[in-house]
Amino acid sequence: MRLNSLLSTTARWARAALALAGTVLLTGCDLNFWRMDGHQSTIAVDGPVARSQRDLFYVTCWVTLVIFIIVGSVLAYATIKFRARSSADEHAEPPEQGHGNPMIELGLIGASVLALVIIAIPTLSAIWYTHDVPEADKSNAYDVTATGYQWWFRFDYPNEQIPGSGTLNTSNELVIPAGRPVRIQLRSVDVIHSFWIPKLAGKVDMIPNRGNFLWLKADAPGYYWGQCAEYCGDSHAVMRFRVIALGPKEFNDWLNQQMAPARNVTVAGAAAAKPQFASYRKDFKQNERGWSDRFELNPLDSWRAHQEVDAKGEDAALIQQGRQIFNAKSCVNCHTVRGNDGSGINGPNLTHVGARTTIAGGLLENTPEQVARWLRHPDQVKPGNKMYYGVNKMAGYLKLGDDGFPVRDQNDNYVPNITLTEDDITALVAYISSLK
Ligand code: CUA
Repeated sequence: MRLNSLLSTTARWARAALALAGTVLLTGCDLNFWRMDGHQSTIAVDGPVARSQRDLFYVTCWVTLVIFIIVGSVLAYATIKFRARSSADEHAEPPEQGHGNPMIELGLIGASVLALVIIAIPTLSAIWYTHDVPEADKSNAYDVTATGYQWWFRFDYPNEQIPGSGTLNTSNELVIPAGRPVRIQLRSVDVIHSFWIPKLAGKVDMIPNRGNFLWLKADAPGYYWGQCAEYCGDSHAVMRFRVIALGPKEFNDWLNQQMAPARNVTVAGAAAAKPQFASYRKDFKQNERGWSDRFELNPLDSWRAHQEVDAKGEDAALIQQGRQIFNAKSCVNCHTVRGNDGSGINGPNLTHVGARTTIAGGLLENTPEQVARWLRHPDQVKPGNKMYYGVNKMAGYLKLGDDGFPVRDQNDNYVPNITLTEDDITALVAYISSLK
């Protein structure tokens, strides 16, 4: 009997030790786990709003840790002291109970209230702080509007008006001035998202027909990962975006570049040569995570490299051909390339798409190979996306019926509306990559 219970105790401890060792081993390969400094860390943060949220988390953790230790110790003490030592003990009357003892009851109520007050004070002050930019810093704030779509984010810069073209807007990569508070108006067109940049701030919902708001500040120039934090449909898991914080001069340069119309690459009397994907510039060596090493080593430097125009390696005839296909295949219905063609607003503004590090809502790195992959099978990259399934009765890759839904043939297969050959894709990739 005793041997049995000893064995089962030993087995229990062995299982616990094994589980602990497993946890340690599983995370052992990833140093970032121990530094807690992943791309979306809420512990290693880079801005005052995220810092106040983290500090609040710590306060709650410490308070609950103290409660855990006290309750755990009392439980362990009672378990050991009052355990049944013999079969007579097992049938004995329970010892005197504390229930109804006013000292114990009042003490527990008092301790609970104290714990709640300790948590409530920093909670209220953090809510107050994250609610709006502090008064002293308000005049320094920069305004942006972020709008959610299925499945991407659009960013408008209301301070930057382009004569004849309205507000400057871009998508999926929000560029902000570092060291300045940024007020972000949150809007949504057709879906509820939760806007979150773990290292800077969040999460606040984007809700159709309701204005929401958050503010944040990046301590220093940097490249930050954003993510929709609330289940919103097919592509929730791939609803990403980036925030790039720049110093004052670099931010101004970026604004000026964005305000300019798209590049217009032409060649006189170009007889479009047979497009060769291999002939187009390739600097993409994919690692096992599907990203280039250049990007993974330093995303901010990679972003900077994307801003630069390197006309030397370009195939102007191919780019010109891509622009023709962009028109002919009705891409212009949903996308704007300001200065070139198109005034569509259903899809992201592509005026300077070549200057972004990512495409497809921050999901793929912006390299010729990945753009081609996106154009080939957008539905496989991002399920439920409107470029494939159509939007507002405007067909995308699939033919739509009068009801606005994709049509199926007698074999129950979708009927295509836009078909792109590999040559078309090569030319489109060249055109899209040239837009900076
Ligand atoms: Cu948007 Cu989840």
